[in-house]
Amino acid sequence: LPSPKPMIAGNWKMNGLKASAAELGQIMAGYGADLRGKVDLAICPPATQLTTFAVVALGSRVLIGAQDCHAKASGAHTGDISAEMVADTGATHVIVGHSERRTDHAETDATVHAKAEAAWRAGLVAILCIGETEAERRGGTTLSVVDTQLAGSVPEGATAANLVIAYEPVWAIGTGLTPSNADIAEVHAHIRQRLVKRFGAEGEGMRILYGGSVKPSNAGEILKIADVDGALVGGASLKAVDFLGIAAAY
Ligand code: G3P
Repeated sequence: LPSPKPMIAGNWKMNGLKASAAELGQIMAGYGADLRGKVDLAICPPATQLTTFAVVALGSRVLIGAQDCHAKASGAHTGDISAEMVADTGATHVIVGHSERRTDHAETDATVHAKAEAAWRAGLVAILCIGETEAERRGGTTLSVVDTQLAGSVPEGATAANLVIAYEPVWAIGTGLTPSNADIAEVHAHIRQRLVKRFGAEGEGMRILYGGSVKPSNAGEILKIADVDGALVGGASLKAVDFLGIAAAY
C-alpha cells in the first residue's frame, strides 16, 4: 500500500449550534482542488448538527463524522446514538475512545473495541483515540500504555480503509502543550510498528493522526514528522480560518 493520504479531522466536542453550519460552509469554500489533492478533511460536529452537516457537506468532499456511537445497533439505551444512526445521517466517520469519553463516561478499552466494531458494522470509518496521561508520561510508561490501548481497543479486521488511529496525549489536549517533535516521532513510529506487526501491509496504510493543541503555528513542524499522517484538532477546528490554516501546512 502507498503511504496514506493525510487527514485533518476537526473534533468540535460539545460546541456548535445550528449557526455553525456557516463555519462548515467556509471550510468547504476553502477546500479547493489543490488542497483536496493533498489532504482529506473531516469535521465531527456534535450529534445535534450531524444531519445538517452531512447534508451541507454533500458533494463537497469534506467528510463528516460523529464523536461517539453506542456499541449496539438499537434498543433501550436512552440518550445514546448507534453507529447505524450515525451512518443514516450521511456521516461516514465516527470518533471512538476519545480520552474525554474514556474519562467522563468510564469507557474502557473493551468499550472502545465494541464501538469500533459497531462502526464497521454500520460501514463507518473508526477514528480510534489512544494516548497517555501526564502521570504516565512522567512515569516513563507511554509506550506500554499505548500498547495496552492498541491491543485492547483495536479489533481484528482493521484495515487501512476502516481505521484511523489518533494519538492524543491526554496532557496535550486543550492545554497548549505539545510533546517534543522527537517524542511525537517516537510514539508514532512505535504505533506504526505495532500496527504492521498485527495487520501487515494494511498497517502500513493506516493513518496515524496526532492530536493535542495543534494550531496553524505548530502544524507545519508536527505534520512533517515521519508517521504523522495528519491531525485530530479540537479548539483550532472551530474556526474555518484556523482549520484551513492547519490543512494548508501540506
Ligand atoms: O480530539 C481532538 C482534541 O482532543 C484535541 O483538542 O483542543 O487540544 O486541539 P485540542
